[in-house]
Amino acid sequence: EKGGYDHFMLKEIHEQPKAIRDTYRGRLLRNEAIIKMAGVEDNMKKFLNANRIIIVACGTSWHAGLVAEYIFEDLARIPVEVEYASEFRYRNPVITENDVLIAISQSGETADTLAAIKLAKSKGAFVFGVCNVVGSSIARESDAGAYTHAGPEIGVASTKAFTTQITVLSLIALRLSRAKGTISSSDFRHHLLELEMIPKKVEQALKSDAHIKKIADIYKNVSNFLYLGRGYNFPVALEGALKLKEISYIHAEGYPAAEMKHGPIALIDENMPIVVIATKKGHYEKVVSNIQEIKSRKGKIIGIVTEGDIQVRDLADHVIEVPESLDSLSPLLTTIPLQLLSYHIAVLLNKNVDQPRNLAKSVTVE
Ligand code: F6R
Repeated sequence: EKGGYDHFMLKEIHEQPKAIRDTYRGRLLRNEAIIKMAGVEDNMKKFLNANRIIIVACGTSWHAGLVAEYIFEDLARIPVEVEYASEFRYRNPVITENDVLIAISQSGETADTLAAIKLAKSKGAFVFGVCNVVGSSIARESDAGAYTHAGPEIGVASTKAFTTQITVLSLIALRLSRAKGTISSSDFRHHLLELEMIPKKVEQALKSDAHIKKIADIYKNVSNFLYLGRGYNFPVALEGALKLKEISYIHAEGYPAAEMKHGPIALIDENMPIVVIATKKGHYEKVVSNIQEIKSRKGKIIGIVTEGDIQVRDLADHVIEVPESLDSLSPLLTTIPLQLLSYHIAVLLNKNVDQPRNLAKSVTVE
């Protein structure tokens, strides 16, 4: 059932090319240059008239929501707020009939997310669900939605659910940008082409597995990790840190790279590994100067870079390459080495990768 892999998590990491392809299949029609999603099409007026989109989710799904915030604002020019479902529902939020609420949940059963939906519906907002489990409570409770087609995710640490959530949310953002006219037809086509190429590029990124395992072996005994990224890759830094915490029990924090100097920089010394996402298109020069700041404090740098990069390679202790893509789609690639890094560290430490202590696959308690 693990298909020859040692763990479900590793199997699911490797399933991502297929999961992403399955998620855009039938929706991304490149030859016709259209995106077809019934749940969006049928409710286009609601989306186009929305004052804002509120995204609610928990954990990894919340990180996918943060990536979506960047895409929706960048491409579709719709204001977005991303909320932890648990905070949103308890703080007497301002919700109106002109709000669209997008709930993201792999299991579709997360209690706080479900409660946030019910609250939004009671105030007249339109609720759109992005779930993986068909027929789940959140899917049923939503007014409309789009499934991720990741297939069953057994490993408690979410991997393919995350990348397929980003895929669905990218499709929605692109569809809305086209409808709003905030994207040119040539840019739109370019995005479709790039999205279609992601599965192949994920395959390419997965080939760094053995190299990543060696890096994991070097750092497996440290007690703290820092993850830094900017823009589209800031949420990826959060997700990388969460993955490491969950399955290896090593303390890790994700930060926007520029926030480092407002506190976390105090932690940096020769014992601190810092994973920095430094792909070519995402504020590259700014990230390089953050890397220089880390280096002058003797932190150990693991750079996630675009293939062929030389500048970061010169500064970093290790680099892991991912193929080049659009900035907006880069999280689908930069996430891969971070998943593998935490996987290998956890395995080397003999941890129960698929069922980490204290965690459950679906959190149905509040
Ligand atoms: C992280 C993880 C959790 C879930 C969170 C939300 O690897 O699995 O943080 O992402 O519990 O779960 P869903 O998406 O099912 O609502």
